[in-house]
Amino acid sequence: MILVTTAGKVGAEAARLLREQGVPVRVLVRDPDKATAGALAAAGAEIAAGDLDVPASIDAAMAGVSAVVLVSPAVPAQELNVVASAARAGVVHVVKVTSKASADSPIARRRGQTQIEEGLAASGIPHTLLRSNAYMQNVLALAPAIAATSGFGSAAGKGRVGMVDARDVAAVAAQVAAAPAPHAGKTYWLTGPELISNYDVAAVLSKLLGRTIAYRELTFEENKDAMIRAGVPEPIAQQNAQAFSLTADGDAEWVTDDVPAILGAPARPFEQFAADHAAAFS
Ligand SMILES: NC(=O)c1ccc[n+]([C@@H]2O[C@H](COP(=O)([O-])OP(=O)(O)OC[C@H]3O[C@@H](n4cnc5c(N)ncnc54)[C@H](OP(=O)(O)O)[C@@H]3O)[C@@H](O)[C@H]2O)c1
Repeated sequence: MILVTTAGKVGAEAARLLREQGVPVRVLVRDPDKATAGALAAAGAEIAAGDLDVPASIDAAMAGVSAVVLVSPAVPAQELNVVASAARAGVVHVVKVTSKASADSPIARRRGQTQIEEGLAASGIPHTLLRSNAYMQNVLALAPAIAATSGFGSAAGKGRVGMVDARDVAAVAAQVAAAPAPHAGKTYWLTGPELISNYDVAAVLSKLLGRTIAYRELTFEENKDAMIRAGVPEPIAQQNAQAFSLTADGDAEWVTDDVPAILGAPARPFEQFAADHAAAFS
C-alpha cells in the first residue's frame, strides 16, 4: 500500500496514476467530501480523512503502508509529523516532493523544505527527493487576469524557467513510489523540456487563444500588491514575489533530462500544458 499525503495537484495525479497501474493506494485528505477525493475513490483509491497537524490521524492512514509520497504545502511541522509516523510504521521508502531548498535561502518556504529534508535524512528511512522547478500550473493563478484583461504581469522580468508540468512531477513520484529500490538516496531535479520566459508564455497563450496576450514586467512591490489584491495571503505573496525576483536574476534557469530519463517519455512542453488548460484562459 502506498500512502499519498494530500490530494493537491501532484498528490491527486500521482494517486490516479498508481491506481491506473493497479497499485493499492491510500490518500490522506482533510475533506473527503471534495470532488477530487470522490474521483480518487471512484478510481479505487482508499480515502483516509486526516490532518497533517494531527499525528493520530496520520498514524491511522499509515497502517500497512510500505511507501509514502510526501507532498503537501510543506509546512515543516506537518511534514515532519508524516516522517515520524512513517518511521514508527516501518515504512521502507519516502518520495519527498520539494523545491530548490537551501538553509540560507531568502525565501522562507525554501528554508522550511531544508528543515523537512534534514528531518527525513535523520529518520534513516530510504528516500528520494524530487526537487522541482516551477510548476506550469502556477500560470493558472494568472488565468482570471488573462481572461479578463488579455495580459499579466510579474517581477520575473526576462528570467527563463525550466518550468515543469505538475503532472510530470506526479508521474515521477508515482513511478518511484511503486518501485523505489533504484531511486533510494537519489535527488532528481525535475524540469520541463525547455527554458521559457514569461514573454514565451505570453506568445504561446496568444497563439492558442487567437488574440494578443501581453506580458508586463513588474517591480517586486507591484507584483506583491497585485497578488494580495487577487486574494493571495500576504506571506505567500511576499514569498512568490521573492521567487519571481530571483527568477529575473536567473535562479530558475535550469533544465535537466531527469523526467524523460525516469519516465522513458518526454516531459510535457508548455504548449501542451496551455492547450490542455485552454478553457481556463479563455
Ligand atoms: N508550485 C510550484 O511551482 C512548486 C515548485 C517546486 C516544488 N513545489 C512543491 O510542491 C509541493 C506542493 O505540491 P502541490 O502544488 O501539488 O500542492 P497543492 O496543489 O497546493 O495541494 C496541497 C494539498 O494539501 C492539502 N492540505 C493543506 N493543509 C493540509 C493539512 N493540514 N492536512 C491535510 N491536507 C492538507 C490541501 O488540501 P485542501 O484541498 O483541503 O486545501 C491540498 O489538497 C510543495 O512541497 C512545494 O514546495 C511547488
